[in-house]
Amino acid sequence: SDHYCVLGNPVEHSKSPLIHQRFGEQTGQEIVYTAELAPLDGFVATWRAFCEGGGRGANVTVPFKEQAFALCDTLSERARRAGAVNTLINGQNGRVYGDNTDGVGLLRDLDAHHIPLKGVRILVLGAGGAVRGVLAPLLERGPREVVIINRTGAKAAALARDFADLGAVVGGGYDALEGPFDLVINGTSASLAGELPPLPEALFTPGGFAYDMMYAAEPTVFLRWAQDHGATPVDGLGMLVEQAAEAFFLWRRVRPDTGPVRALLRRALT
Ligand code: ATR
Repeated sequence: SDHYCVLGNPVEHSKSPLIHQRFGEQTGQEIVYTAELAPLDGFVATWRAFCEGGGRGANVTVPFKEQAFALCDTLSERARRAGAVNTLINGQNGRVYGDNTDGVGLLRDLDAHHIPLKGVRILVLGAGGAVRGVLAPLLERGPREVVIINRTGAKAAALARDFADLGAVVGGGYDALEGPFDLVINGTSASLAGELPPLPEALFTPGGFAYDMMYAAEPTVFLRWAQDHGATPVDGLGMLVEQAAEAFFLWRRVRPDTGPVRALLRRALT
């Protein structure tokens, strides 16, 4: 059977092995999927050793997505836009193909929750790699405006300029933040530290949605705040499963059914 893995540091708590093993069973694809810890200074060496051992492809997680981008011989358009790679394919003659399925994963999950995107006003919090990966697919859905707000405002402004050819997008610091928004996406790592960015009271339109790219057994502090301010909260567990399904499709050319795997992960979380 073909061997795949997730490369990260840390990686032991990754849900990807569970997700991909389920996808394999469900579709009758005989794959082995493991979590491989790469030393912080040894990402490329770990990938090369994996390939020499017959490995066919990998998912890449924190903090190696930019290094994965740099090692590819060929990149998808969406990976080029993102400046980051989360899916590697060990191709013919040792050539490495890189893609980024994070944006598609987010969009599939927003669709699964029936969250409208066309013509709406969207706020994106944060300007790191996670946000860079999702801006192009978001803008392709034709929102009225995407506002990127970051602690370091200049980073958000620079990001907005990079994507301005795809639609109406502006960026700045929290002092420039003015609601309301139909959808607010938290792409900061603040949730990890249990912190809340400085948000104004009137952030959401009536019926608005709050999406946190993070997930945990308990709702994040951002999602709790959003619910208290009238929004419908959605966590990032679905995005995780959907980006995995897109990677599985790239490798195997078979599309798994994400519904049962979403349910399984949700049960495992609580
Ligand atoms: P990732 O690849 O997950 O996006 P990153 O590149 O380190 O990780 O980006 C983390 C993001 O969270 C940044 O936008 C960061 O803001 P700065 O660019 O100003 O550092 C943001 N962030 C982290 N902690 C935060 C906090 N407590 N409040 C607000 N934003 C925070």
